Amino acid sequence: MNRVYIKTYGCQMNERDSEAVGAMLRNRGYSMVYDEFDADVVLLNTCSVRDKAEQKAIGKTGYLAKRKRQEPGFILGIMGCMAQNRGIELLDRLPDLDLLVGTQKFHAVPDYLDRIIASRKGLGPRPATLVDLEAEEGSQNTIREHLHQERKVSAYVSIMQGCNMHCTFCIVPKTRGPERARPITEIVEEVEELAASGTREVTLLGQIVNSYGRREIPIRNRKSPFVQLLEKIQEVKGIERIRFTSPHPVGFKPDLVDAFRNLSKLCEYVHLPVQSGSNRVLKRMNRPYSVERYLKIVEALRDAAPGMYFSTDIIVGFPGETEADFRATCRLFDEVAFDMAYIFKYSTRSGTPAATMPDQIPREVKERRNQHLLRKLEGISLARNKTLEGTIEEVLVEGKARHGDLYRGRTRGYRSCLFPAHDRLVGQLVKVKISRVTPSTLYGQMVLKGVDTEAVERMRLQPSF
Ligand code: SAH
Ligand code: F3S
Repeated sequence: MNRVYIKTYGCQMNERDSEAVGAMLRNRGYSMVYDEFDADVVLLNTCSVRDKAEQKAIGKTGYLAKRKRQEPGFILGIMGCMAQNRGIELLDRLPDLDLLVGTQKFHAVPDYLDRIIASRKGLGPRPATLVDLEAEEGSQNTIREHLHQERKVSAYVSIMQGCNMHCTFCIVPKTRGPERARPITEIVEEVEELAASGTREVTLLGQIVNSYGRREIPIRNRKSPFVQLLEKIQEVKGIERIRFTSPHPVGFKPDLVDAFRNLSKLCEYVHLPVQSGSNRVLKRMNRPYSVERYLKIVEALRDAAPGMYFSTDIIVGFPGETEADFRATCRLFDEVAFDMAYIFKYSTRSGTPAATMPDQIPREVKERRNQHLLRKLEGISLARNKTLEGTIEEVLVEGKARHGDLYRGRTRGYRSCLFPAHDRLVGQLVKVKISRVTPSTLYGQMVLKGVDTEAVERMRLQPSF
C-alpha cells in the first residue's frame, strides 16, 4: 500500500513541488515508483495556466477513476494549481478522488496519505475526500527536500512562491497566492547540500525572481535581495553554474545586468517573458513596460555578455490583437532574434479580466499566428546554432541521452548538446567541438586541452569564454 507515482503537468515550479513531495513521502517510508501501473497511490500535480492543461489532467483522472472502481484499495489524489483553481467543484466531476490538496499544502500530503491508508485498515473512520486548499503562512519554506536517489547534476531550487502582478490573462496569482520569499540562508543551505550530493548546476525558480525578497530583505550596496542571493550562491563550492527563471522586465535593474559581468557562474542565458511586441497589447495585458524598455534591457545584457542567449514567452491571439499588433510582435522577434521561445495561444481563464474583454480572437487566427512564429523561431534558432559549428563549447554532462549511446548536456547558453562520452564524466564540465546542428540540438565530440589546438585558439577568441 505504499508505492506512489506522481504525474506532473505544467512548469518547472510544478516539477520542483512534485519532487519535494516525493522526497517527503520517501522520508515517511513510502516508495516512489515511475510507472503508474506499479503504484498503489497516484497523485496528479496539476497546471491551470491554459485550459488544455486542465483538460489533460481531468481526462487522466477520469481514466484513473475507472481503475479505482476495479481496485478499491487504489488511492487517487489531485494536487497543485488546478486543485486550487477549481476547488471542490472538481468533486462534482470526479467524485472518486481521495485527496484534493492546494498549492500551499504540498507538505501536508504525507500526513493525509497516512490518514487515508490508516482508515482503509479499519483504524479510523472511512473519510470522504480529504480536501485542503487553505493558505498557510510560511508554506514557501516547505519546498526544500530533494530526491537524492540518482546523482542530480542539475537541480531546481524554489526561492519564492506566488505573484503580486495582475496580468489580465493570468490565473497564477489566484492559484499560487501572493508573493512570499524564502530566507537567503535557507536557500544557500539547500544549494550547499545539493552541491555536496553532486549537483553542479542550480536553476532558481520563482514567478518573478527579480522581485525576490523585496519586502523582507533590505537593499545592500545598491544590490537587490535577488542579486545578493546570486552572489551568495556564486560562493558555494561545487556549484559551477547558476541559472534562474523567470525574471520580469519590470524591475530588471542595472545590478542584475551587472551580475552577468561579475558572477562567473551565472550563465549567459536569460528567459525574459515579453508576451507581445505591441505596446497597445502590453497595456491591455497590464504588463507595465514598453517594447522600447524591453529592448533596452536586451541591449544592456548583450553589452554585459556579448554572447548572451535570449528566450521568451509570447501569447498570440490576446483579445483585440490586430494584424498590426501581431506584425509588431514579429518585428520584435526578429530584432531580438530570440534563441528560444514558448509561444502560447491565448486561453480564456475564467475569472481573469481578459476573459470578458471584447474582440476575442478566433481559433484559426491564433493557430495561424502561432505557426508563423514557430517557423520564425526555427529559422532563428538554426541560424544561431550554425554559428556554433566548428567552435568549442563548455558542456555540463548530465547523463545518457534518451535514445542511442550518446550522452547529453547543455552549453552555458542552454543549448542541448549530444556527444560520445563516458559514465565517469557525468557531472563534469567538458569541452565539445560542435560538428553538426539542428534547430534544437548541437552534435559534437569532446576535445582534450591541447589536442585540437586550432579549435582551442578559436575558443579563446570567443567572447562567451
Ligand atoms: N511568472 C511568469 C509567467 C508564468 S505563466 C512571468 O514571468 O511572466 C507562464 C507563461 O504562460 C506566461 O509567461 C504566459 O506567456 C503564458 N500564459 C499565462 N496565462 C496564459 C493564458 N491565459 N493563455 C495563454 N498563455 C498564458
Ligand atoms: Fe502571471 Fe503575470 Fe504573474 S504572467 S505569474 S500574473 S507576472
